Amino acid sequence: MRALQQRSFFFNRFAKQIILTMLLLSGPNMGGNEWKYVKDCLDTGWVSSVGAYVDQFEKMSAEFAGTKYAVATSSGTTALHICLVMMGVNEKDYVITPNITFIATCNSIKYTGADPILIDADPGTWQMDLGLLENFLMEETELRDNNCYYKKDGRRIPVVMPVHVLGNMCDMDRLMALAKQYHLTVIEDSTEALGSYYKGKHAGSFGLMGTFSYNGNKIITTGGGGMIVTDDEALAKKAKHLTTQAKSDPFEYIHDEIGYNYRLVNVAAAMGVAQMEQLPAFLKRKQEIIAFYKKELEGVADIGFQEVNADVQPNWWLPTIMTGKQKTVLTILNDHKMQSRPFWMPMNQLRMFKDNIFYNKDNRSDYVYHRCLSIPCSTNITDEELKAVAYKIKEAF
Ligand SMILES: Cc1ncc(COP(=O)(O)O)c(C=O)c1O
Repeated sequence: MRALQQRSFFFNRFAKQIILTMLLLSGPNMGGNEWKYVKDCLDTGWVSSVGAYVDQFEKMSAEFAGTKYAVATSSGTTALHICLVMMGVNEKDYVITPNITFIATCNSIKYTGADPILIDADPGTWQMDLGLLENFLMEETELRDNNCYYKKDGRRIPVVMPVHVLGNMCDMDRLMALAKQYHLTVIEDSTEALGSYYKGKHAGSFGLMGTFSYNGNKIITTGGGGMIVTDDEALAKKAKHLTTQAKSDPFEYIHDEIGYNYRLVNVAAAMGVAQMEQLPAFLKRKQEIIAFYKKELEGVADIGFQEVNADVQPNWWLPTIMTGKQKTVLTILNDHKMQSRPFWMPMNQLRMFKDNIFYNKDNRSDYVYHRCLSIPCSTNITDEELKAVAYKIKEAF
């Protein structure tokens, strides 16, 4: 008891010291060549939408993901939107996607005018439940002329957009087989899954196209930015064209369709190149962080972690625990300036999507939503800070 009190005293004092400033949930780690490459852009004036760093960042991203091509975009959201535009998705269509995801997935679908069909979550892995997806496709859709249609209103379902939630992945063999059987194009929202693999193949390289996000909380960041990866040369060229206002003449301002200003600028790409150089080290640190948290917290009261299928090697981008004491733990951590966050409110509970098709069993997304919280895991977090976080979490029980 006395030992515990002493420990408690030490950690409370320690927590106060480190927490003069907020311990970020998943903050940027600018420990490499960022200054040097950004300075290079400023010194040379190559700050805007063309430049060698954009090309280099795209090349490094394609190489890392194991795809032939990569096209940089202004964000993960715009990357998703352009993929859907290229598939001709429109207001007469549906796109299948998980009910547990960040809002950007569904927003990108709505930008095209299409509606998301929301599939409930697997309560263990928190990914789209493939059993439910299969049931939905079997019971609620029909195939005509190599297209999939929703039986009730005859609207087309051209795309399934799986999300690799928190860098974890579902059984991709099963998902790809279902997509093939039902003539669905797969566009992967792999925005959170840079460095995640299924059977040794990188996330984003399964579908016709995959996407990454480089916003401030991702495993690498360009401040804000995104990437489309694909093996299809025509799609890569089209993505570049559409994201640069569909300008069809190198000199004159002639545009051959409605385009978008969705480019990533060179100064951001310069950060991206520096961040990519450190990605292996960042991934290693994420593995250490999750190993530490599991060692300290698994089996403490009802605390559980995201289940991972044997074929999946996640990047452990955002360690997240599950507990009935979600609210208490959130309060304790945030009160001690250890930034922690609840899971996203499931899409079917948001005003904009509450009337959309939600195919579920026992509304498991709601169960996950009310129990999960993400805990501090920046790649530059120190071992002492990790200990302080684990200690504070245990205090809740
Ligand atoms: C699942 C998911 N989809 C899409 C996005 C959108 O990425 P961005 O914030 O770069 O637009 C994010 C990241 O924020 C995300 O987590």
